[in-house]
Amino acid sequence: MEEIQKLKQELKKVNAEYAGIRDIPAEERAEFGRKINQRKQEILAKIVEAEKAALDTDAEPIDITAPTAPNEPLPELYPQNQGSLHPLMTELDRVTEIYQMMGFDVVEARQLDDEYHMFDSLNFAKEHPARDGYDTFRTEEGLIPPAHTSTMQHRVLKAYKDKLEKGENIAVVVPGRVYRNEDVDATHEHTFYQCEGVYVSCDCTMGQMLGILREFFEKYYEQKLNIRTQPGYFPFTEPSLEFMIEKPKSLGGKKGDFLEMLGCGMIHPNVLKMAGIDPTKYHGFAWGGGIDRLVMLRYGLKDVRYFESGNLNFLKEF
Ligand code: DAH
Repeated sequence: MEEIQKLKQELKKVNAEYAGIRDIPAEERAEFGRKINQRKQEILAKIVEAEKAALDTDAEPIDITAPTAPNEPLPELYPQNQGSLHPLMTELDRVTEIYQMMGFDVVEARQLDDEYHMFDSLNFAKEHPARDGYDTFRTEEGLIPPAHTSTMQHRVLKAYKDKLEKGENIAVVVPGRVYRNEDVDATHEHTFYQCEGVYVSCDCTMGQMLGILREFFEKYYEQKLNIRTQPGYFPFTEPSLEFMIEKPKSLGGKKGDFLEMLGCGMIHPNVLKMAGIDPTKYHGFAWGGGIDRLVMLRYGLKDVRYFESGNLNFLKEF
């Protein structure tokens, strides 16, 4: 570097000398100019050499692509207001990951559906009182924001039925947001999340279904659990069950404290038939349950309304 500075000083001097050409007698000017130019060219060549040599040293190269000096911390752009995933979304991801590890595909539900998928395709007889049990909202056009993720069963069965002919099984879970026109309190929300499961093969049994559900809940709560079932009623399953787990001690439960986690059962032959699947050849089971309830138990939350409250203090707890 010093060498280059010296050469540049010299160049300045030569340029200054050149300015004196005016005082040189006319007949000597050409010779004077030639000599000065030659010296100038020599110095310039030396500068180029010296600069090249400076680049060839072993000095550590600088990564000009690095955004900052690599050892300095990055500037914090938004230190206070960085957003995060909503706790229900984080948990929904955990839920689907557990099912994916068991070999299930994930299909997302839709947020606006119709009478056919909400009721007819699920074997709800026309005018059957069970339709009222779902407290459905309706748009002015007569569409339905789904009251359960079971609205997706018919679509899943139709979309995957080719697998059965190839000797494969249908194994799909459907997470989704659902809506019910009911009074809101600490345990009821008008908007919540569910996850549906659909499994069809030529020889599946209820025992397999209970095995899958037990496995899921034990993975989700990271411990062994006691489970229990009791008879239930859903038009789209026969027989139908309510699936319960005993609230674990670690989560504040006492012995015999069973909580209903989901509805399930063997898929009704009519539901398979409507999707073009032969119920004499194939059997299936399905289940569906609330995600909010699952998460509330995991974190000891007492009020479901926190989830949709937009309360930042609550969200920051996660
Ligand atoms: N859709 C039902 C509900 O929201 C739950 C349910 C019951 C889903 C039985 C199923 C099932 O897939 O087989 O109450």
